[in-house]
Amino acid sequence: MVAPLKVGIAGLGTVGAEVVRLIEAQARILSERSGRAVRVVAVTARSKAKKRNLDLRGIAWAKDALALANDPGIDCLVELMGGSGDPALSAIEAALKSGKSVVTANKALIAKHGLRLAKSAERHGGALNFEAAVGAAIPVIKTLREGLAGTDINRVYGILNGTCNYILTRMEQEGLSFAECLKDAQRLGYAEANPSFDVDGHDTAQKLAILASLAFGTKVAQNAVYVEGISSIAPEDLRAAEELGFRVKLLGVAVRTPKGIEQRVHPTMVPKSSSIAQVMGVTNAVTIDGEGIPPITLVGPGAGGAATASAVVADIADVARGIRAKPFGRPVERLRATSKAPMERHEGGYYIRLMARDLAGTAATIATRLAEQKISIESIVQRHPDGVDAAGTKGKASPVPVILITYATSEDAVYRALQAVQRDKVISGRPQVIRIEKN
Ligand code: HSE
Repeated sequence: MVAPLKVGIAGLGTVGAEVVRLIEAQARILSERSGRAVRVVAVTARSKAKKRNLDLRGIAWAKDALALANDPGIDCLVELMGGSGDPALSAIEAALKSGKSVVTANKALIAKHGLRLAKSAERHGGALNFEAAVGAAIPVIKTLREGLAGTDINRVYGILNGTCNYILTRMEQEGLSFAECLKDAQRLGYAEANPSFDVDGHDTAQKLAILASLAFGTKVAQNAVYVEGISSIAPEDLRAAEELGFRVKLLGVAVRTPKGIEQRVHPTMVPKSSSIAQVMGVTNAVTIDGEGIPPITLVGPGAGGAATASAVVADIADVARGIRAKPFGRPVERLRATSKAPMERHEGGYYIRLMARDLAGTAATIATRLAEQKISIESIVQRHPDGVDAAGTKGKASPVPVILITYATSEDAVYRALQAVQRDKVISGRPQVIRIEKN
C-alpha cells in the first residue's frame, strides 16, 4: 500500500477552510483518482482562536508557516495566505528546498517570484503547482502546460478578473454606478482586500503574465504587461457598445506579433457574438488560439472559496499521483526574456467617443484629421444629449457625443489624429478611446 500524501495547509481563510473540508469530503474519490490517500496532517493560520466552523481534531497546529514548511511530517505545503512576500515566500522557499511539493493559489507571488521558485522546484525535485492562481476552478494552467503541449499558441486572452466583469455586467444590465457595483462585489467576497488591485487591472496583469509564460515560453514578468483599468468606463460607453454590436470587457491579452509577444490589460470592445462577450458576472473565461485548430474557450468561476479550493485540491491530487511537471511548462533556463510592448505600435480597431461642438463642419474636421492619419472609419454616430435640441440651449452650440468605430490602425495614428482634433477646438474634454479585439 502506498503511504498517504501528508499535506500541511498554511492559511485558513475562506479558501483554506474550504480545502480542508473538500479533502475530507472527497477522501475516497481522491484516493481512487490519485492512487493514494490524501491527508491534512498539519495547519497554521494567523489566529488559532478564531471561530472557523471547521473540525481540526487530529490535525496538528504549526507555530507558523515556516515551521509548517520545515515539518518533516509533511510531503506537500499548501500555501493559501496570499501576499507576494513573507511569510508565504519564505515558507514556499523552505518547503521546495527540502524537496517537498508546493501548491499555491497565490498569483501575486507566482508573478513576482515564480521563476526563482520554479528553479528551486526543478533542482530539488518537488512540484510547484498554481492552477488556482489563474481563473480559480478553470483548468487553464493544465490546458496550456499539458493539454496543448504539442500546439503552437498564437494568442491567449480572457476575462481574468471576476470583480471587473461583475461590475461591467451590472453597470450594463442594470444601469448602476461603478461605485454601487464595486460595493456589492466586495460584499460578495470577489474583490481583493484592496479593490484598486482589481479595478485598475493589476490582478488581471499578474494572471496574464503567468498565462503568457506558459503559452509562449517567456519569463513570467508582470512589468512586461501594459495595464489600464476600468474606472474610466462610463455608462454611455456601455450603451454605445450595445448599440454598435459590442460589449465592454476588461481583457488580458497575450499575443504573438511580428515584433514580439504583446501583453496587455485594458477595457476592450468585443463583438457581441463572440464567446467572450457572453461571459457575465463574476465568471471568468480564457480563449486560446492554437495554430491549426479553432479557438478553445474555457469558461467558469474565477473567484470564491469553493472554486479556488477545487483547483487547489486538483493540484494536490497531481502531487499525490507523483506528477512533477515543469512549473512553467519547460525548464526555467529555456524561458526567454520579454519586454513591455510599446502600445503606440499596437494595431487594431478603436472605439472613440468625443464631446463635439454641434456646428456645421465639426464632423468634417474630425473625419479630415482621421483621414490625414490614414484612419478609415467603420461607423460614426452623433447623438443629442437628453433634453437639448440641435441648436443647443441659449442659442449656443452644446457639445454632443460623437461615437466612431475605426478599422484597424495603429494607436499612434489614433492619438495623433485626436491631438489634431483637440487643437482644432471642435471637441471638449478628453476623448474616450477603447481598443477593439476581434475574435
Ligand atoms: N479578486 C479576484 C477576482 C479574485 O475578482 O477575480 C480571484 O483572483
